[in-house]
Amino acid sequence: MNILGIETSCDETAAAVVRDGSELLSNVVASSLDLHAAYGGVVPEIAARSHIEYITPVIDEALSTAFPTAEDPWREIDGIAVTYGPGLGGSLLVGVLAARTLAILKDRPLYAVNHVAAHAFANFLTSTSLPNYTLPANPPTFPMLSLIVSGGHTQLVLFRSHFDYNVLGQTNDDAVGEAFDKVAKIIGLPYPGGPSISKAAESGDPAAYKLPKARMENKYDFSFSGLKTAVLRTAQAVIGESFSFPSHQIAERLTGTQREDLAASFQRVAVDTLLDKTLQACEEFAPACIVVAGGVAANQSLRSALKEQLPLPVNYTDFKLCTDNGAMIAAYGCFAAANGVEPSNAYSLDVEPSLSM
Ligand code: KG4
Ligand code: ZN
Repeated sequence: MNILGIETSCDETAAAVVRDGSELLSNVVASSLDLHAAYGGVVPEIAARSHIEYITPVIDEALSTAFPTAEDPWREIDGIAVTYGPGLGGSLLVGVLAARTLAILKDRPLYAVNHVAAHAFANFLTSTSLPNYTLPANPPTFPMLSLIVSGGHTQLVLFRSHFDYNVLGQTNDDAVGEAFDKVAKIIGLPYPGGPSISKAAESGDPAAYKLPKARMENKYDFSFSGLKTAVLRTAQAVIGESFSFPSHQIAERLTGTQREDLAASFQRVAVDTLLDKTLQACEEFAPACIVVAGGVAANQSLRSALKEQLPLPVNYTDFKLCTDNGAMIAAYGCFAAANGVEPSNAYSLDVEPSLSM
């Protein structure tokens, strides 16, 4: 079973082909990240316009890479999977309309995919002949505890099987990746904030500044907006200003060391928070395996902390499959087809920007 996966929920236009949920045949990602960097975050209109430009070439390349010798690669494709939410409305629309059109034209079943759940499915990919991928040797087993951490989402989910899961907790405000991005902006590091904070943190002292950990009513829920504000207040104090000092003028007043120390102190609390809750869930639910998914799963400090502290080895997929991609959507589509999930109506599938798990 070969599924074409299409993903356009944010700023990446992505398509991939996956066989049987485990073999990665192609994975093509065109990002409009550079176009957004100047604004310090994703600009929805720019993202949507850039999806329109990239969607056809990206799908074509995914098909030709997967089946380089096929006269018509579509003969090899058994179904189409597409992200229909959550995400930016205009961006989602481009992928969903492309997928609906192809499903009708090529007469293939169409699977509507929840982007957040799909992040976890990237971990089921265990083989590929594509160059430069490091994939886990074995797929996750159930019950699977999944820490999904990205720019839009922060959730702990317990999967009993592919489509039977419980959301144990989620963020009540900012996602952890969003906090990395916002803190980076305050202290003057480039967008996206995740990679630039973790790089600056390497030379910083994680104990330099005391920052708070949020206490939540549901112990598996998260909150990162207080931590972000605490970084803002600390940075204002460090440069000798009050809480009313404009945040966009802070960065230029920080020394390199102060910037690195703020980055390291913030990252330590963010990583500790994720670690604490994953550890607690692990104790309470005794999962057979743990996966970490989403853009923030690329964070080295999070990876080492989990590796050291968790009682089970954590499955990590390739860095390229942590951030948004079509392969996770295609993998989800394969399991949906294999588990008898009803395909969507290609004439009416709509986007759901606020879709939850
Ligand atoms: O999964 P993703 O590509 O998109 C969403 O679905 O949101 O995640 C993007 C997020 C951004 O907030 C980015 O700053 C963060 O992942 N990120 C990281 C790292 N690399 C990317 N956060 C922390 N450390 C990293 N190394
Ligand atoms: Zn994502």
